[in-house]
Amino acid sequence: MASSSFHFLLFIFGSLFFSHSLAKTTSFRPKALVLPITKDTSANHIQYLTKIYQRTPLVPVKLTVDLGGDSLWLDCDKGYVSSSYKPAYCGSAPCSLAKAPCNMGMCPSDPKPGCYNNTCTLNADNNVVDLGTPGLVGSDVVSVPSTDGANRGRVVSVTKFIFTCAPAFITIGLPNGVKGIAGLGRTKISLPSQFAAAFSFRRKFAVCLSSSTKSNGVLFFGDGPYNFLPKIDVSNSLIYTPLLINPKKLPGIDIKQEPSPEYFIGVKSIKINDKSVPLNTSLLRIDRLGRGGTAISTVDAYTIMETSIYNAVVNAFVKELGNHVRRAAPVEPFRACFSSKNIGSTRVGPAVPTIDLVLQNKKVYWRIFGANSMVKVSDDVLCLGLIDSRDVVGMRHSIAIGAYQLEDHLLQFDLATSRLGFSSSLLFRQTTCSNFNFTSNA
Ligand SMILES: *[C@@H]1O[C@H](CO)[C@@H](O)[C@H](O)[C@H]1NC(C)=O
Ligand SMILES: *[C@@H]1O[C@H](CO)[C@@H](O)[C@H](O)[C@H]1NC(C)=O
Ligand SMILES: *[C@@H]1O[C@H](CO)[C@@H](O)[C@H](O)[C@H]1NC(C)=O
Repeated sequence: MASSSFHFLLFIFGSLFFSHSLAKTTSFRPKALVLPITKDTSANHIQYLTKIYQRTPLVPVKLTVDLGGDSLWLDCDKGYVSSSYKPAYCGSAPCSLAKAPCNMGMCPSDPKPGCYNNTCTLNADNNVVDLGTPGLVGSDVVSVPSTDGANRGRVVSVTKFIFTCAPAFITIGLPNGVKGIAGLGRTKISLPSQFAAAFSFRRKFAVCLSSSTKSNGVLFFGDGPYNFLPKIDVSNSLIYTPLLINPKKLPGIDIKQEPSPEYFIGVKSIKINDKSVPLNTSLLRIDRLGRGGTAISTVDAYTIMETSIYNAVVNAFVKELGNHVRRAAPVEPFRACFSSKNIGSTRVGPAVPTIDLVLQNKKVYWRIFGANSMVKVSDDVLCLGLIDSRDVVGMRHSIAIGAYQLEDHLLQFDLATSRLGFSSSLLFRQTTCSNFNFTSNA
């Protein structure tokens, strides 16, 4: 009798324990995920970094964030150890999802991540330095924290997250300790697409870059709320514009190819202090060969403009700034610099003319204030933070809106409806991109 009630109790406790652990591992479905983004100025190019956990056992992996990158790739040459790594064999589901062709070459050494016979191959694109090299496709466990939109929640895992194993040399230009690039672009295997598929949430993600190297910005996968201290949900005050598709991944080359994984918006004109800047507007359209148009980029530190657009914008800006502001000598990479002596300051940065990127109609525009247009290069010099495309190798679009202009704005990309939601400067709302509360409430 005593012994059978003992068994009964054991059964109850056992099943309680069992259902509890089952809930923890399988039935918790996150509504959104969250990662920190840090601004890094240690390398030649300013970059925005994030950190995921990957492999078995899990290790932290630092990555450069590339909004227009097509997938996740990592250096597998140096110390990739994992019992859960799976090569993607030719003809398998990961290869077709990645649209990755079969690797005909053979691996001469013992098999290891990045070296298997008969697997599919993808290019690892390093858009920071504009280089790419083929790597082999595989999958492994990836773990990231979930969120309720206000705090960091419990960590969740994707068991077969598809990525490319690349050779070490392609990490050139990335800061020390960064193992690869996290592509957020418009493909089936970008981070937003794989997370949305794994947890059945809307194919939406949001980026908010911090202007400070000392405090984190934030990357959300999934829908809002996106809360910033003090209790401001930025997801409900966004301005919307269609995301455009560039039909050519390699602009200017007239062969059948994949569409570009980059995100484009339809800038129709530019205004400075509400006055139209005269421009050749045909440059603002994406042409048949995929040239022109306006892309958004996190690997370009500052907005790049085609030379005729750049000149027109600088001329109009200087005129609106007025005679009381003295021009200063250029400071690389900028051409237009000014003495800050007669420039006042506002909540949204230096008091300079506003620059509007006018979108689908006159009422929809992205207004750039001093905090996002002027770069302080010394105590008494401010430069207009725009780059002339003739100073850049490999510029393929007429405008690439760079990271400095994105800082302290929240941008939400909705892949299902092909729509961008963007906030105005969060400084107006007395918050910043570094005000997400990363304290865990799990
Ligand atoms: C790949 O195939 C070659 C030729 O059959 C063989 O020598 C080599 O060991 C194989 N490598 C791997 C990693 O399986
Ligand atoms: C405007 O730009 C287009 C595309 O580059 C070019 O073909 C055209 O000649 C330009 N028009 C003028 C007036 O410069
Ligand atoms: C951040 O979140 C934690 C956990 O919910 C909370 O205790 C803390 O007060 C929050 N911090 C601020 C500054 O509100």
